Amino acid sequence: MKVTKAELAHVAVKAEQYPKNQLPELALAGRSNVGKSSFINKMLNRKGLARTSGQPGKTQTLNFYEINERLYFVDVPGYGYAKVSKTERAAWGKMIETYLSEREELKAVLQLVDIRHRPSEDDQLMYNWMKHYGIPVILVATKADKIPKGKWQKQLTAIAKTLDKEASDPLLFFSSATGLGKDEAWRTILNHLKV
Ligand code: GTP
Ligand code: MG
Repeated sequence: MKVTKAELAHVAVKAEQYPKNQLPELALAGRSNVGKSSFINKMLNRKGLARTSGQPGKTQTLNFYEINERLYFVDVPGYGYAKVSKTERAAWGKMIETYLSEREELKAVLQLVDIRHRPSEDDQLMYNWMKHYGIPVILVATKADKIPKGKWQKQLTAIAKTLDKEASDPLLFFSSATGLGKDEAWRTILNHLKV
């Protein structure tokens, strides 16, 4: 998709702060540091729009990026980041759970995993939790630039198996560093939104 307009339109920690214009939403989920914010920047061709960092735990609010006045990407704080306090983690957990389980505009979740590794226990919990709520998931195996092309398929197969992936959930490879997989990611997303 050609992105002509992209902006951080809303920042929310509670439901009253979500957008009110009823555009379809796609949320980014994944472990801290897996590359959710980088994915958004690459897909939107906007370096630095979503804040990224080598330090995990950069994104701490629900950040709604409005795209071409047609849809939102929602950057969600990553899970599995040990260095936050228990109270903080509980508050984030609640914020994310409320959004993912109750938001009608949410059409699918893009769950990012690192193509180099078997999905962690947190990844598995997250995927199972979304399946429990009947949320369509698009799995994105990112950082594909970090391993040779010849190894991608083997890694994708292992990821699908570990997660016990449902057949209807696509599994794509991606690299925010090179833009690899970007066209296919847009095709899959638009297909899920029918926008
Ligand atoms: P939190 O906001 O902490 O949950 O992290 P995040 O998932 O948003 O990760 P972020 O996009 O900030 O990226 C984390 C680090 O990984 C940064 O140093 C990025 O430059 C790097 N990174 C992200 N995607 C890729 C990729 O596809 N390839 C490579 N080589 N590095 C990547
Ligand atoms: Mg982030």
